[in-house]
Amino acid sequence: MWGSIVSEWLGLIFRWLHVVAAIGWIGSSFYFIHLDLSLKPSADLPEGVQGEAWQVHGGGFYRIVKYLVAPAKLPDDLTWFKWEAYTTWLSGFALMVVVYYLDAELFLVDKSVLDLTPLQAGLFSFVSLLVAWLLYEAACRSGLAQHELPFAIGGYLFLVLLTYAFTHVLSGRGAFNQIGALIGTIMVANVFLTIIPNQKKIVAALLRGETPDPRLGKAGKERSVHNNYLTLPVLVLMISNHYPLLFATRLNWLIVAIVLALGPIIRHFFNERHAGRASPWWVWGVAALGMIAIGLLSAAGPRGGQAGALSTAPTYAAAEEIILSRCSMCHAAEPVWEGITTAPKGIRLDDAEHIHRNARLIGRNAAWASAMPPGNVTEMTAEERAVIAAWVETEVR
Ligand code: HEC
Repeated sequence: MWGSIVSEWLGLIFRWLHVVAAIGWIGSSFYFIHLDLSLKPSADLPEGVQGEAWQVHGGGFYRIVKYLVAPAKLPDDLTWFKWEAYTTWLSGFALMVVVYYLDAELFLVDKSVLDLTPLQAGLFSFVSLLVAWLLYEAACRSGLAQHELPFAIGGYLFLVLLTYAFTHVLSGRGAFNQIGALIGTIMVANVFLTIIPNQKKIVAALLRGETPDPRLGKAGKERSVHNNYLTLPVLVLMISNHYPLLFATRLNWLIVAIVLALGPIIRHFFNERHAGRASPWWVWGVAALGMIAIGLLSAAGPRGGQAGALSTAPTYAAAEEIILSRCSMCHAAEPVWEGITTAPKGIRLDDAEHIHRNARLIGRNAAWASAMPPGNVTEMTAEERAVIAAWVETEVR
């Protein structure tokens, strides 16, 4: 029992830290992108200044100027923005270990997708994170990333391919988290290994009175642009575990493919707008179509095979029998599943009253999607899901 209580609280602490750090990181990065794009030239700016911006916040006015390379004399105090990114990764990885690696049997593996041991799934997850990042890094260093559009399209296809692979190795929920973690890792590595070190080298060169290598700034900028466009999809992937219809339906990988395309398009709208150019309003039309497509795709039914004609009539009695034999070992007042001490999320499915009350949730998690049982540990069949789906139809409208 203590093991599951400790992991619950560790999960909460890491998640809290992760969310706060990510808000700090993404907030400051959106802020700087906006600031950068909104700088305007003006007559009385000091030497070497590209432009200035005026802002009002918290009762005061801010006049911000940006030096293209650096001011003639560097200030003693220089604020660096890096710990938000590092903390986001460290807390995120710790959370991933607690939720997905230590509970791999429930959340990372789905035996109806691929019969892996928790150790195999954990290794697959960790190694694929590393390999994907190395491939990205190699592509950037080889100069490929300088061809922006082909690189963006290639990168997109690479991520879709990985998503397809992950959804055919891991559980749907594990796969969505994996692709999100992978993109997040690339983003943080960009800060840790390129953006900050290059900036440090630039500062050091300036302090020595030398002209910094322009390639340093250019590489840093390139990685910042990648991070900017990757932000929105990562966030959807990170909260996707609350939405069974996204991750546990048959065409889940196509849903990710759409999310990966929509995020950058939406960022494009704001980038154009903040730069003072004409706002590309068409973006919202595309985004709306994309969301409709996601909604339709999420109705494709649960993963794990299609049921043929039902051999049982979809009565409440038939549904109850299935739920009692597939769900109630965990979702009971006193669960009997090892490692589960109280009914998960407070949801009991051990008598008629509770089953009726939770009909809609049962539908979303186990009939229209296959999020429950987690990892299909109690081996629910496609036919059983279809029986439950037909019963839920009679119960909720
Ligand atoms: C092996 C134990 C286990 C079994 C079996 C199981 N569940 Fe769950 N269930 C869980 C856990 C653990 C969670 C919490 C998941 C999380 O932390 O996100 C959960 C969460 C849920 C939720 C809440 C989801 C939400 O929106 O937060 C529902 C509904 C649910 N299960 C329904 C079912 C149904 C229906 C079945 C049977 C078809 C089932 N469960 C079988 C362990 C189980």
